[in-house]
Amino acid sequence: MTYKPQLAPAFNLIELPSVGSTNDHAKQLARSGYPAFTTVWAHEQTAGKGRQGNVWTSVSGNLYMSILLRPAATAAQNGQLSFLAAVALAETVKEMMSKPAQIALKWPNDLLLNGKKAAGILLEAEEDWVVMGIGVNVAGAPDGAASLKDFGTEAEAGQVLEKLSARVKDLYDLWVKSGFAPIRSQWLHYAQNLGMTIQVRMPNETFSGKFLGIDDVGALEIETPDGAKRAVCSGEVFAG
Ligand code: BTN
Repeated sequence: MTYKPQLAPAFNLIELPSVGSTNDHAKQLARSGYPAFTTVWAHEQTAGKGRQGNVWTSVSGNLYMSILLRPAATAAQNGQLSFLAAVALAETVKEMMSKPAQIALKWPNDLLLNGKKAAGILLEAEEDWVVMGIGVNVAGAPDGAASLKDFGTEAEAGQVLEKLSARVKDLYDLWVKSGFAPIRSQWLHYAQNLGMTIQVRMPNETFSGKFLGIDDVGALEIETPDGAKRAVCSGEVFAG
């Protein structure tokens, strides 16, 4: 029998057997005035979306969820919520892992298990709402990616949803009260290649430098070999 998640009272869970994209569904609800913490959970997505126009493949047993948030914040501050989601993911997975694995966050917000992607986050926003979409490889993964099951975790998607939503709520309350600083330091704790030389690939430029951290809006802070500091808002990062 499928596990029935128990969510904190703030949440209103909408469970669907199948949907195009939980993000698209949650965006429709946002535009229809649904309240904060409305959460769409689908067992299958037929048009799952990744970042930068990528497809997010639907593998049976994995978690596909989107949480509607209505922060009283600027657009730049809202971008911090993807780092909040990444920390919530890392903490949830750490708690649920049965076998040891290196848990890392790759900028901007991929969750890696032993260097392989196991979860992703897609934030979409308009003026008065943010949809936090999260996909977790619970039971299986596309080629080259990892799942929780690879590390002995037999949990169902609903169990991951329950723990993850609780973490998101706790961190969201912390963010509202204390701002980005505590979230950023927790994110840096898990950051892959912090302090190392990394390669940054942007649409029109590729360069290398030392990964110093992330700034107030989550931009990557890099020190180039000539000692200059650069902040990168969008792109992909790679080792060395
Ligand atoms: C990425 O490219 O890493 C982001 C992947 C985000 C996937 C999740 S699955 C639930 C939600 N609905 C979507 O269509 N995408 C996000």
